[in-house]
Amino acid sequence: MMRRRIDIKLGLAILLIFLLVLLPLGFVVDRLFVTFFYNKAHQQVNELAAHYVKMSEAEHGLSPDLLPTMEEFSKSAVYIMNADGELAGTSRHSNQDLSLLITKEDLVQLEREGSIDKEVTDSHRQDYYVSGKSIIVNGQHQGGVFVASSMSEVQQSISSIRRMLTIAGIGGFLLAIGFSTIFARKMSRPLMQMERATRQIAKGKLDTRIEVQSQDEIGTLAIAINEMARDLQHYQDSRNEFIANISHELKTPITYLEGYTDIVLNELYDTEEERQQYLQVIRAEARRINLLINDLFELAKLQEGKEQLYMEAVEICSLTENAILKVAMKAKEQGLAISFRSDLAEVVVNADAARMEQVILNLLYNAIRYTKEGEISVHVTQDEENMSLSISDTGSGIPEEDLPYIFDRFYRVEKSRSRVYGGSGLGLAIVHKWVELHGGNIRVESQLGKGTKFEIKVPLL
Ligand SMILES: Nc1ncnc2c1ncn2[C@@H]1O[C@H](COP(=O)(O)OP(=O)(O)OP(=O)(O)O)[C@@H](O)[C@H]1O
Ligand SMILES: [Mg+2]
Repeated sequence: MMRRRIDIKLGLAILLIFLLVLLPLGFVVDRLFVTFFYNKAHQQVNELAAHYVKMSEAEHGLSPDLLPTMEEFSKSAVYIMNADGELAGTSRHSNQDLSLLITKEDLVQLEREGSIDKEVTDSHRQDYYVSGKSIIVNGQHQGGVFVASSMSEVQQSISSIRRMLTIAGIGGFLLAIGFSTIFARKMSRPLMQMERATRQIAKGKLDTRIEVQSQDEIGTLAIAINEMARDLQHYQDSRNEFIANISHELKTPITYLEGYTDIVLNELYDTEEERQQYLQVIRAEARRINLLINDLFELAKLQEGKEQLYMEAVEICSLTENAILKVAMKAKEQGLAISFRSDLAEVVVNADAARMEQVILNLLYNAIRYTKEGEISVHVTQDEENMSLSISDTGSGIPEEDLPYIFDRFYRVEKSRSRVYGGSGLGLAIVHKWVELHGGNIRVESQLGKGTKFEIKVPLL
């Protein structure tokens, strides 16, 4: 249905343009030919009459004996009239009804004005062009000559030209129909293809792709649809993966909860101390689930762009020192020292203070979590445009092949061991999003077994 419509629309548009050009053009050509032929015929008749007048005047009177000479030149009928309006001689070709061709009024007009031109149709519907001229000798009207020429030859020529014009017009019209049908089909085919493909994509067949056949707007549209399908596929894949990850992440602590509550419920312990231990595991797992769900919510909101930033001037050095104080206890428990250094007394950025602190805390917790011994150093500096904050540790480091994925959701380097450390792999994904929302970026450098350095850059105020 759709196909027919666009084909027909395009085809009709082309045909219409064609007709709009062809019809006026045909009309103009026709007019040109008609005028040209008639003018030519009239001119010939006029010339003949003038010629005869000249010859007669040279002979000083009417000279019917000139008629045979005239007949040599033309097929026109020649009539010589004397001063009284009577026929003084006719040529061989003159077989028309004279009273129709030359009326009394014509003779009067000829005497008065010296010449006359007119068109007459006889009883056989034949058209004649009549040209009359008076013969004047010594200022005296001696009579006149009338030349009458049938227009049938001219009319025949015109109608044969019209026939040719019509044939050419019909030929052109048929060609235009053929051409516009092919053109319309060619134009509409990729559109139809795209329409089908988008329907497939809408139905969920996201691996549908359109063959890009041209570099024009239609080609660009095909590329755009392919990109859309690819994005949708990526989105769907990552959503599926995300859901799988969440289920997996929740399953482990929930299994623990189930197992340990069963033990406590069925009193499968020996001592009160043991019971306390189990309850503590239950609590730790519950807390873990809680944290995970909080992180998930935050990440979901971030990804939907629903999190709002409350931007203000934030002094990074004091903010960082504050954050370091908050994690100092934990670092101390592991025997780690945290040093802070800044190239300037104050570094001010435009940021959401709470989010900025969250970013720094997240990186500090990671450094503490993944460092067994050594130290953590924090360095703040700035260049013309950005503030730069780096957190380096002397911890386990990250293998090079894992580095590109470190900011992905749920990505952890040591999947089995990470449970010991308690991470779910969402921290860096959240950090990355926040830094991005601040118009900044985050980089990581790491050497396995030697340590890791995270550096964030945020535009200065
Ligand atoms: N400073 C670091 N040194 C070594 N490895 C690190 C460091 N920071 C991050 N990693 C690696 O990157 C992974 C992802 O870090 P991320 O902070 O996203 O998750 P997590 O710390 O495991 O869990 P959480 O969601 O609780 O933060 C970690 O599991 C760890 O393997
Ligand atoms: Mg972390």
